[in-house]
Amino acid sequence: MPKVTYVTDAGVDYSVDATSGDSVMATAVRHGVPGIIGECGGNASCATCHVWVREEFVSGLDEIEELEEDLLDMAVSERRDGSRLSCQVEVTDDLDGLVVDVPPTQP
Ligand code: FES
Repeated sequence: MPKVTYVTDAGVDYSVDATSGDSVMATAVRHGVPGIIGECGGNASCATCHVWVREEFVSGLDEIEELEEDLLDMAVSERRDGSRLSCQVEVTDDLDGLVVDVPPTQP
């Protein structure tokens, strides 16, 4: 069972067991991780699931598609190299140990 760690702006770590095939957003919401809202339910239309993926994991992720690309530009918190919509990142066994930072503010 892959683990995902969410680090909040306050520096609090939430390390949770994820299910392969679920999104990083759905995993966060299910475990009550603060700061990941997922308002649109994972349809890539709200950007309230923005996270900063730690550098060492970025190359293991799927490419960003155009819709996600556009929404990331509208996210409230700054866009960084590791910015992703967590609803568009699928948890896999290969991503076990994934660490993402949660921005201080979501739309
Ligand atoms: Fe709305 Fe990800 S949950 S864009």
